Amino acid sequence: MKSILWAALALFCLAGTAGAQTPPTAEVLHWWTAGGEAKALRVIADRFQAEGGRWIDNPVAGGGGDAARTVAKTRLVGGKPPTMMQWHLGLSLKQLAEEGLLGDVDEVAKEGGWDAALPALIADNARYKGHYVAIPVGIHGENWLWTNPKVLADAGVSVPKTWAEFDAAAAKLKAAGVIPLALGGQGWQQVIVFNAVVLGTQGPGFYRKALVDLDAKALGGPEMVAVFEQLARIKGFIDPGATNRDWNEATQLVIKGRAAMQLMGDWTKGEFAAAGLQPEKDYGCDASPGAGQAYLVAADALAVPKLSDPAQRRGQLLMAKIAMDPKVQRDFSLAKGSVPARRDVPADGFDACSLKAMEKVRNSPDILPALGSSMGVGAAEAGAITDAVAQFFASSMSPTQGARTLRDAIDAIR
Ligand code: GAL
Repeated sequence: MKSILWAALALFCLAGTAGAQTPPTAEVLHWWTAGGEAKALRVIADRFQAEGGRWIDNPVAGGGGDAARTVAKTRLVGGKPPTMMQWHLGLSLKQLAEEGLLGDVDEVAKEGGWDAALPALIADNARYKGHYVAIPVGIHGENWLWTNPKVLADAGVSVPKTWAEFDAAAAKLKAAGVIPLALGGQGWQQVIVFNAVVLGTQGPGFYRKALVDLDAKALGGPEMVAVFEQLARIKGFIDPGATNRDWNEATQLVIKGRAAMQLMGDWTKGEFAAAGLQPEKDYGCDASPGAGQAYLVAADALAVPKLSDPAQRRGQLLMAKIAMDPKVQRDFSLAKGSVPARRDVPADGFDACSLKAMEKVRNSPDILPALGSSMGVGAAEAGAITDAVAQFFASSMSPTQGARTLRDAIDAIR
C-alpha cells in the first residue's frame, strides 16, 4: 500500500513538472543567418520568448537553404525532428507530408481563420489533405534587379529593361572598370539568373511550359538554346571572384560600388536596409529585364514536423499563433524584404520596393513559382535543373550543349 502511494506521489510530481514547468519549447532549424534575415527571425523569436516560450536557435548557414534542408531531412527520417523548420511552401513540403513526416497546426489555424487571412495560392500550398502542415510567414519574389544608381550614372547607363539593354549596359560598365553583375558561383544563385533569363527572353508562357510543366521540347528546343546564349554572355559580365561567394557578399559589392547590379530575390532588400540605405535613392529595385509584371514567387514558411514531445508540441502551437499574428508578420517582412503572407496586413510603413512587390503579389496576372523554391516542381527536378545550370556556368560548353544537358537531366529522373 505504502509503495503504491509513493508511486502515485512520484507520478503526480512528474506530471506536475512536465505540465506546469516545462515551457513551450521550440528548436528552430533555419538558414536565416544574413543581416536582414536574422533581424526578421528575431521578431518571431522575441515574441515567442515574451509569451513564455523557450527558443532554441539552430541556424544552418548557406543561402538558399540547400544545407539546412539536407540536415532537416536527415533528422526527420532518423526520427529526431526539430520542433520547427524553415521550408518553402510547395511540392517539396507536400513530399514530406506524403512521407508521413509532418504534423499539423489545424487547431490554431481554425481559431485564427487562416483560410480567410491567406491568399488561396499560399493557403493551398501550406495544406496537405486539408491540414496546415506549415505556417506561412512571407512571400518573396526572385526576379529582381538590384542596382547601384551612382555606379550606373557614372558609366552613363540606365537600368536595363530588356536583356539586349542589359548586354549593352554591362559592356559599358565593364569598360568603366566595375563588375557589371555581382553573382555568387553557387547553383541556387545561378539558377535565379537562369530563371530571370527564361522569363525575360521567352515570356511567362514559355517559363511555365519549361520550368513548371517540364515539357521536353521546351527544355531542349531553340528557345532554350537562346536562353543559354544569353547566359553565355552573362558569364562574360561576372568577376573571377564569384566562385562560392555568398549572395549577401555579392550584395555588399553592389552596396560598396564595386559592382553595378545583382539579380536576386527581395531578401536582398534586408541587406540594403541593414546598411541604412534608402530604396530608389541609394539603391534601385526593378523587375529583372524583360519580366514586366510577371513575378516568380517563393513562399517562406515554418514547417511542422510530426513529433510527440508535449513541450515541443506546445511550442509548435504557440509558434503558429505568433508567426501568423498580423503585427509579427508585418515586422518580420519589414526586416526581411518580403510581402507578408497574410493579406490583411496594411501596406503603410512599407517602402517603395515592397510596395512594388505587394502590387505584383496582389495583382499581377503572371504569378509563377520560382524554380529554386520547388513550388512548381519537386525537389529532385529542381535539383537536376540547378545542377545542369551550374555545369554550364562552370564549363565552356556551348549553348546547344547547355540546353541538351538540361533536357537530359530531366529525362534521367522521369
Ligand atoms: C531563400 C529563402 C529566403 C532567403 C534566401 C537566402 O531560399 O526563401 O527567405 O532566406 O533563401 O538565404
